[in-house]
Amino acid sequence: MKVAVVGATGLVGTEMLTVLAARNFPVSELIPVASERSKGKEIDFKGKKYKVVTPSEAIALKPDVALFSAGGGTSLEYAPLFAAAGITVIDNSSAWRMDPTKKLVVPEVNGDVLTAEDKIIANPNCSTIQMVVALKPLHDKYKIKRVVVSTYQSVTGTGVKAVEQLMNERAGIKDGEKAYAYEIDLNVIPQIDVFQENGYTKEEMKMILETNKIMGDDSIKVTATTVRIPVMGGHSESLNIEFERDFDLADVREALAAQSGVIVVDDPANLQYPMPKDAHGRDEVFVGRIRRDDSQANTLNMWVVADNLRKGAATNTIQIAETLREKGLI
Ligand code: A2P
Repeated sequence: MKVAVVGATGLVGTEMLTVLAARNFPVSELIPVASERSKGKEIDFKGKKYKVVTPSEAIALKPDVALFSAGGGTSLEYAPLFAAAGITVIDNSSAWRMDPTKKLVVPEVNGDVLTAEDKIIANPNCSTIQMVVALKPLHDKYKIKRVVVSTYQSVTGTGVKAVEQLMNERAGIKDGEKAYAYEIDLNVIPQIDVFQENGYTKEEMKMILETNKIMGDDSIKVTATTVRIPVMGGHSESLNIEFERDFDLADVREALAAQSGVIVVDDPANLQYPMPKDAHGRDEVFVGRIRRDDSQANTLNMWVVADNLRKGAATNTIQIAETLREKGLI
């Protein structure tokens, strides 16, 4: 397969190359794509060097599939041009996620919605992906009424500049690159993306709206507080979930352990619970601190961690491509 990676010089694009190689996706030719600034730059992939091209040049090279992670503007402008040339686009930006004509896919949850008509497929928000993978088996068993989620999100979700800001601050460099309005080292910023008129941030609204779309159930009520913390390895989430039906904790653990893409790490006696440093570089979603919320009927607390550049972005994108291949759609 000829595979274009649009945004190949960025954090997620780089991770896409790693995941394509690690999962042995059958890449016969790689087409690394970035802005004019990076044109001609060499990218290593599986021991071969490939030259970075611009999006227009990539279309002319007719890849079978294009994995986009170059920001919403680039996706809005170029994804339709790729699709018009017969190239299937899987887009990691927020540009197409809530478009009713586009599918928003987490393969373990709703991979079955993909059809031959889908030429631009949206990859959900990183925080939403790891949450729905953990919610899916519990929704199937006990039907979710409401989810209260608070996030603890890695700076890698913001991109290269944010990692530089954290490292500069840590090294005492005060006048370096700034990705956030405030210092992030030794701090916590309760704002991710821009504020909306309702007082929520765009990230919080993404978690609410995208969850309903992916789960295919608008009756699930979600409320979110999303927070940036000075961490690198992945996003963590505290989930409080109210179900219609009561549950048994052992059955909850069993259902989570049986869910494809989930690893349960929940052994308080031995201080075992998911942490970003352990999720870093892994494709799975880790779930722990599973316990009953005794303040309310049929309600559960749990802690969910995943590498936001992997399952939250690159891995999920490539799993969508794998699903398309299995179905013979690319
Ligand atoms: P470039 O390195 O040439 O700027 P990150 O989010 O980690 O900062 O990465 C953003 C990615 O999106 C980079 O690979 C960047 O390429 C790419 N990109 C940004 N603007 C464009 C554009 N107009 N066309 C193609 N790629 C773009």
